Amino acid sequence: MIFVTGGAGFIGSAFVRNYCHNEHIVILDAMTYAADLERISICKDRISFIEGDICDFELVSSIFNKYKPRCVVHFAAESHVDRSIDGPVAFVQANIIGTLNLLQCAYSYWQNCESVLKQSFRFLHVSTDEVYGSLSFDDNPFTETSNYAPNSPYSASKASSDHFVRAWNQTFGLPVIISHCSNNYGPWQFPEKLIPLMIAKCLSQQMLPVYGNGQNIRDWIHVDDHVSALFELLNHAESSSVWGIGGGAEISNLDLVHIICKTLDELKPLPNGKYQDLVTFVTDRPGHDLRYAISTNKISSKTSWKPKVDIKDGLMETIIWYINSNSWLENISKKSSYVEYNRLGLGQNKGIAK
Ligand code: NAD
Ligand code: TYD
Repeated sequence: MIFVTGGAGFIGSAFVRNYCHNEHIVILDAMTYAADLERISICKDRISFIEGDICDFELVSSIFNKYKPRCVVHFAAESHVDRSIDGPVAFVQANIIGTLNLLQCAYSYWQNCESVLKQSFRFLHVSTDEVYGSLSFDDNPFTETSNYAPNSPYSASKASSDHFVRAWNQTFGLPVIISHCSNNYGPWQFPEKLIPLMIAKCLSQQMLPVYGNGQNIRDWIHVDDHVSALFELLNHAESSSVWGIGGGAEISNLDLVHIICKTLDELKPLPNGKYQDLVTFVTDRPGHDLRYAISTNKISSKTSWKPKVDIKDGLMETIIWYINSNSWLENISKKSSYVEYNRLGLGQNKGIAK
C-alpha cells in the first residue's frame, strides 16, 4: 500500500496511473483548483481516494492507521511560481505547514510499525530543482550538493519543506528520500504552466505571453519519466538520500514556444497566418530565474533509470493530447479564476497578499 498526497494533481495523478496496477494506492488530496479526478478515473478500482487537507492532523493520522502504507509519496503542494508571487501565504500553509503535519503523522505511525516495515518504510518528498536558485548560461547544472538559494515564494516554501524533511530524518530518524526534479510537461497539466498555457492559447487564438526576452532556460522532463524515477527511488533508495531528476532537455522559452507554434501549424493550421504571429513579449516575472538544469549523473549511475521520452516526441504527444481534449481544457479552466488565462504573478500587491 502506497500513500500518495496530491494524487489528483498533474504529477501525482501520473504516478497513480502508472503504478496503481502494481500496488493499491491511497490518495489524499484537498481538491484545489489544480486538482481533477478525471486524471485518475481509469484507476478507480485500484485506489482509495480521500478528499482532505494534509494540514489536518486527525485525518492524516487516521489514514496512516487504517491503510498502514509501506511508504508516502508526497506531491501535495501549491506549485505555480506566478501564483506564489500574488499569494504567498497559501504556499506557506500547504507546502510548509502541510509537510510538517505530514511528517509528524508519518513519524508517529512509523515509530509503532513492526520491525520489517519500520526498516523499509520511506517518506519520499517530491521537491524541485528551483530550491537551488538560478544558473547563469555558463554554469554547470545543479547537483544534489548545490547550495540552497530559492528566489521565488514558491521555491522558498519548497526549500523550507525540504529542510523539515531532512530535520525529521536527522532528529527523529524517520527514513526519508528527497528528490529535486526539473520542469515537467505532458498530458493533463493545468493550463497555467508554460507548455499547456501556450498550447491552450494557440487553440483559442489568443496572444502568447513570453516573459521578458524569452531567453530564460528550463530543462524539461516528461511527467512519465519523472514518476518512473520516483518509483525507482521508492524501491531502491537509501534513507536520507537526495536525488536530482532531469530531462536533459534544456531549451529557451522562446525556442520552445516556436516549436509549439510550428507543430500546431502542421497539426491544426490557422486559416490566416501562423501561430508564431501570436507571440507577444510581456513584462518580465519579478525575480525571474534565468536558467534551471539539474544533473542526473547520480540517479543514472546508481539505478537503472534514464529519461525515455525525447522532448520532440513528448511535445508532439502532448500537443495532440490537448487538441483532442478541448472540453477537458475548457472545464478545468472554468473551475478556477483562470477562465481567460489572465496574466498572473506581476507582484502588484508587493508580496502582501491573501
Ligand atoms: P499540481 O498543482 O498539479 O497538483 C498539486 C496537487 O496537490 C493538487 O491536486 C492539489 O489539490 C493538491 N494539494 C494542494 N494543497 C493541498 C493540501 N493542503 N492538502 C492536500 N492536497 C493538496 O502540482 P504538480 O505539478 O503535480 O506538482 C506536484 C509536486 O511536484 C509538488 O510538490 C511540486 O512542488 C513538485 N514539482 C513539480 C514540478 C513541475 O514541473 N510541475 C517540478 C518539480 C517538482
Ligand atoms: P512555468 O511553467 O511557470 O514554470 P517555472 O516558473 O516553475 O519554471 O514557467 C516556465 C518558464 O516560462 C519560466 O521561465 C517563465 C516562462 N513563462 C512565460 O514566458 N510565459 C508564461 O505565460 C508563463 C506561465 C511562463
